[in-house]
Amino acid sequence: MSIAKKEYKRITTKTLVDMKSKGEKISMLTAYDYTMAKIVDNAGIDVILVGDSASNVMAGHETTLPITLNEMIYHASSVVRAIERCLVVVDLPFGAYQSDPKEALRSAIRIMKESGGHAVKLEGGKEIKDSVKRILNAGIPVMGHLGLTPQSIYKFGTYTVRAKEEEEAEQLKSDALMLEKIGCFAIVLEKVPAKLAEEVAKSVQIPIIGIGAGGGVDGQVLVTHDMLGMTHEFNPRFLRRYLDLYKEMTGAFENYISDVKSGDFPSDKEQY
Ligand code: KIV
Repeated sequence: MSIAKKEYKRITTKTLVDMKSKGEKISMLTAYDYTMAKIVDNAGIDVILVGDSASNVMAGHETTLPITLNEMIYHASSVVRAIERCLVVVDLPFGAYQSDPKEALRSAIRIMKESGGHAVKLEGGKEIKDSVKRILNAGIPVMGHLGLTPQSIYKFGTYTVRAKEEEEAEQLKSDALMLEKIGCFAIVLEKVPAKLAEEVAKSVQIPIIGIGAGGGVDGQVLVTHDMLGMTHEFNPRFLRRYLDLYKEMTGAFENYISDVKSGDFPSDKEQY
């Protein structure tokens, strides 16, 4: 059982900021459905992210761009029904907030009202400042997302490490300060040099949660299906696999198929 699970009955955005001030690391994983969310929450995770990575992991799309607001609400409401303790953050999908702040607020309100999620996450810095402010003004907690922002993959052209050059690193630092100033409760920092990520984490009071951003930040997030080894074609350096579920599950399916074919399943005890 995690230290956090013993100490906190329910995780809120304030809990996360308090954890940072005490030097306690924050754990975050993705979930998109009821069954997975129940296991992850029960294990003591601090935050579940209903990520738009559902577009890849659940729907098999090449990028996160195709997933819709309705689909995100469906995934998020399944997760919310499962959890008892963790904070649930829901990604605003591509196309649900980029055109103007009013649209961003409408989308965030739909997520909060229809899924019961506790906060939303948006990708980007100064270009989405007005939208973030509008959502925050409505009382909806916002988590930022800087560095590699997969919704902009066609602008970047690759999924390689971001902000290695001075100019991009400076912009990232100023975006993080801006997001803190306008009221975001945390920021995800994806695939940036560890030294830069640590510098950003030290420059703000709100938690910086890294993925491929090294150990000098305030918490870590991984995609659950990746860390369980269910996906095996994705092998970035930052990914630690805790299981090889692809292999385990394949073995179980093969055994089942063979038992059905041979007539071994069901046995006398497995029927009425
Ligand atoms: O959608 C997602 O899973 C994410 C994480 C990779 C941070 O945004």
